[in-house]
Parts: sequence; C-alpha cells; structure tokens
Amino acid sequence: MSELKNDRYLRALAKESVDQTPVWMMRQAGRYLPEYKATRAEAGDFMSLCKNAELACEVTLQPLRRFPLDAAILFSDILTIPDAMGLGLYFSEGEGPKFERPITCKADVDKIGHPDPEGELQYVMNAVRTIRKNLDGAVPLIGFSGSPWTLATYMVEGSGTKTFTKIKKMGFAEPQTLHLLLDKLADSVITYLNAQIAAGAQSVMVFDTWGGVLSPRDYKDFSLQYMHKIVDGLTRFADGRKVPVTLFTKNGGQWIEQIAATGCDAIGLDWTIDIAEAKARVGDKVALQGNMDPSMLYASPERIREEVSTILSGFGEGNGHVMNLGHGIHLDVEPEKAGVFIEAVGELSKQYHK
Ligand code: CP3
Repeated sequence: MSELKNDRYLRALAKESVDQTPVWMMRQAGRYLPEYKATRAEAGDFMSLCKNAELACEVTLQPLRRFPLDAAILFSDILTIPDAMGLGLYFSEGEGPKFERPITCKADVDKIGHPDPEGELQYVMNAVRTIRKNLDGAVPLIGFSGSPWTLATYMVEGSGTKTFTKIKKMGFAEPQTLHLLLDKLADSVITYLNAQIAAGAQSVMVFDTWGGVLSPRDYKDFSLQYMHKIVDGLTRFADGRKVPVTLFTKNGGQWIEQIAATGCDAIGLDWTIDIAEAKARVGDKVALQGNMDPSMLYASPERIREEVSTILSGFGEGNGHVMNLGHGIHLDVEPEKAGVFIEAVGELSKQYHK
C-alpha cells in the first residue's frame, strides 16, 4: 500500500502536530453535488450505487476533486447491515429508508444471523478496496457503521421516526429482547468494521445518530454499552499504523466523559456543545471532531468564515482537532458554500499550529 501524501487527519486523531487543522464533511458525497446526482441516475437508485464498486468509488472521490479535503469516507450507508440481515431495505422517494420486514418480537430477533462481510456485504468491502486503490494515498479512507442502538431504531420502527415509540416500547416493556438485538448488532458491527479495516479503511467512525433521544441511564444501557463493546473488539492497528475510532452521538454533549472512557480515539461533536467546553472536559483523553451547524452553510461566506474562526479559536492551540460539520451536509446547500467552509479552515487554522 502506498504511503499517505496527506496524513493530517490521522495525525490530528492521534493528537500529533499538524500544519493546519484537517477538515472533512459528514455526507460529503451526496445530493448537494450535481455530479453525484448524475452518477446516481446512471446507477439507477441509491442501493445500486452502493453495490457498484466503481460508481461508489466515483462518488466518494467527487467531493475530493472539488475541495481540498483531508479525508475520504466510504460511500455506503449504515443500513447495509440490517439489509444483509434480511429485513428488506428500500428507499421511498422523499421519505427516507424503510424496511419490508421490521423486527417486532423476540422470535424475529432470534431469526436474524450475522452477515458475512465477504458474503452478503462483499459489495461494501469491494467498494473499500476500489476506493483505497484509486485514492492512491492522497488522503486516508474512513470506514463506518451505525451504532447498535441507531441501527435497532430503524429495524424496530421500520423507518425513520420522530417519536421512537416502537423501539422504546421494546426497550422498556421487553428489555431482554432489545438487549439481545443490540448485542447481536454489536457483534455484527465488530466483524463488519474489522473487515473494512482489513480491506483498507484507515480509520473508522460509528454513527450513533439517535443516542441523544435517550435518558442518561438508558443511553448508557442501550447505546454506550454496545459502542464500548465495539471499541474493545476493533482491530486498532493495520498497515503499520494505528486505526483510530471516532464515536459520534448526535445530541450526546452531556455524556462526553463517558464516551471518552470507552477508549475511543475521538468524539464527534454536534453543534449544540461549545467545543472549548468539550475540550476542557475531555481534551486530554481524546481528539475532537466538529462542530459547525450544517445549516450555517446557508449563511453568507463572511458568516461562514466567522463561524469557522469561532470554532477554531474555541479549540485554540494544541493538537487533536478535526474540523467537520456537526451532522450531515444538507442536500440544498450550494457546493460553493462548502468550498468557503473548507478553505476557511485551511486559511484560519494555520495560526494555531506554529
Ligand atoms: O458521508 C458520506 O459522504 C458517506 C456516505 C453516507 C451515507 N449515509 C450516504 C447516503 C453515510 C456516512 C451515511 C450514514 C447514515 N445513513 C446515517 C448516519 C449519519 C447521519 O446522517 O445521521 C444514517 C442515520 C443513515 C440512514 C439514511 N440513509 C438516511 C436517513 C438517509 C436519507 C434518506 C434521504 O432520502 O435523504 C439515507 C440515504 C442516503 N445515505 C443518501 C446518501 C448520500 C441519500 C440517498 C440518495 O442519493 O437519494
């Protein structure tokens, strides 16, 4: 494997010195880019795009051609695991992901098996291998998975939800059933992420998009416990280098000490926490990723630069910051605004790395 030409992102996650703060954007490949829409149309639909290694590689690289990003992220989805477990994933236009056969009871949980990363999920590993080859060491490749709790919410609700009643009903009325599901998912996530690492992912991120809808006690019980199990089960060294793991709980700002205590390398922050406060609370233990509100990309270039400057000065001097949005980029953002954000990080961060 070729040497990395730009390893700022991996150095920052290891809390090593860098010349400027590395930056990438959650959902950086996607519908805000016209070239993404063209490739997606060529593929037919979203899952066909994920299953075509050449096209998945193409959309992964598209944002890197436009912007000086410091990392690439595998083009795939967190719902590949439940799909491979046989739940029948489909996307209905404008309504997001859905499952034909959601999990409703213990018998359903008993039925699901562990997908084989080089079997049902081989298309993901093929995408990782193809992307890694085509990147040719330009920047590191991030692999990812959903957290067990976040995957379970989609599997039990059968779709996205605003109220989380079905999953919480299972968790509170039948906790053993939910724990059985979460534990199976944790094992599958470990196997899946380790396979991504074996295929060439140089860092991995766990998306816990819905952990923040739980009470502190239930967050620990239903979400964090299983992410901790994942951190313990991951291959942490590959290709002569440490493979850092980043945990992202949206709305998880109140729990960052507990997240840091899992032994993860970095915490992804959304925009509802001040990064200076986060650094004061956990900055000696972990690196921090984030945390501009993605809606700030609707603002003027001046306002975007001002926000980047505020976040950079909030983190201040010292190592261990990866700039990012606090959640995925919105699909109606003008690509030029993303460019303003990324360029501002390059220009304004050098002063903190002398
Ligand atoms: O960041 C990247 O560029 C990599 C790709 C990526 C996608 N999904 C592509 C995608 C990543 C990292 C994800 C993760 C993901 N998927 C999460 C966790 C992160 C988060 O945003 O909270 C979640 C909850 C999902 C589930 C999911 N998949 C949703 C809610 C949707 C949106 C449905 C919609 O119509 O917008 C998807 C589909 C999806 N995943 C798209 C993309 C680019 C849009 C599909 C399209 O092209 O129509």
